[in-house]
Amino acid sequence: MFELFDTAPPDSILGLAGAFRKDENSEKINLMVGVFKNEQGRTPVLDCVKAAERRLLESEDTKGYLGIDGAPEYVRAVQELLFTPEHDIVQQRRAATVQTPGGTGALRVAADLMHGKFPTAKIWCSKPTWGNHPKVFAAAGLEVAWYRYLDDTGVGLDFDAMLAGLNQVPAGDIVCLHACCHNPTGVDPSLEQWRRIASVVKERGVLALVDFAYQGFADGIREDAAALAILADALPEFLVCNSFSKNFGLYGERVGGLTIVAPHAAAAQAALSHAKACVRSNYSNPPRHGGAIVTTILQDDALRAQWEQEVAAMRTRIADMRTLIVGTMAELNVGRDFSFIQKQRGMFSYTGLTPLQVDQLRSEWSIYIVGDGRINIAGVTPSNVRRLCKGIAAVL
Ligand code: LMR
Repeated sequence: MFELFDTAPPDSILGLAGAFRKDENSEKINLMVGVFKNEQGRTPVLDCVKAAERRLLESEDTKGYLGIDGAPEYVRAVQELLFTPEHDIVQQRRAATVQTPGGTGALRVAADLMHGKFPTAKIWCSKPTWGNHPKVFAAAGLEVAWYRYLDDTGVGLDFDAMLAGLNQVPAGDIVCLHACCHNPTGVDPSLEQWRRIASVVKERGVLALVDFAYQGFADGIREDAAALAILADALPEFLVCNSFSKNFGLYGERVGGLTIVAPHAAAAQAALSHAKACVRSNYSNPPRHGGAIVTTILQDDALRAQWEQEVAAMRTRIADMRTLIVGTMAELNVGRDFSFIQKQRGMFSYTGLTPLQVDQLRSEWSIYIVGDGRINIAGVTPSNVRRLCKGIAAVL
């Protein structure tokens, strides 16, 4: 049977990792997958994570299965981080959370849940969106449609077009929104614009599915949940898919959550029962180690303070690299203004480079970025920034 298979195309983000490894250029630069790297170009284990793991090594007394929806204390910690402990959604138990293998796992469970109950519902994504969104949604059976996001410069928001697009979405469909640090563009709506998005979503009677993978990477842990708070004020129900890959550096541990917010506790529990059925027939129940690390940190005042400092340090490093890139591009005098990189937020910037220029960067400079022109700013360091900028200048 396998002889009948053609080779599938490589993944747009993870697919070139092998080519990068084989590249023998000692000055090669990897700015593809969204992982944080320190100034030495390494993706470190956070100190708070190491401390939590030491505690777990001593205290953990079983590796037994978690429940289908994960550990109750993790579920609580996720909800409190998303909304704050005092929020009505948490207090009234209007949220139900499933601990998932990463944010991608959360997206897949959300898509399975919605497609199972509403087989004709479409999901509307920003154009562009994270390359894996349409694949995850389509794999669950959801038809994917698009709303416009960027203006003609390709590096800024066209809010009127976005709103016009959202205004076309039929009631009963789903809209995928990025809570902050839009992936791949780094272009976020302002809070005032979020209020208008929330009212359109409400008026149209569509369900918001909010991807929240970069909490803490734009302005701060609470600040970055501001869009979510606006949606929570306006909407009786929505879904949140969150990830702890980036803000806890727990990439390979696969830690995330799907949070279903419903008008009341009974509806949340009913929806949860269907989400659990999706999980059981997929991966059965979530991995426990990463979730235990997150819970240990969030439940302990000292570890939590340490975590917040470490997230702030990552955020600051990325912001510094944005400044450095803009400054270095200006020095190189390429005749194009790169100050938009400073306005974009989170791990990524959309450079506006064409696929041809991206290919040239790879073949002539051994600089690897995603085909749509996305750069992982968190992979830029003071020692590779000049070479990166020279490469960009050359392909321009
Ligand atoms: C990315 O966008 O690079 C990350 O979210 C990692 C991934 O799985 O694609």
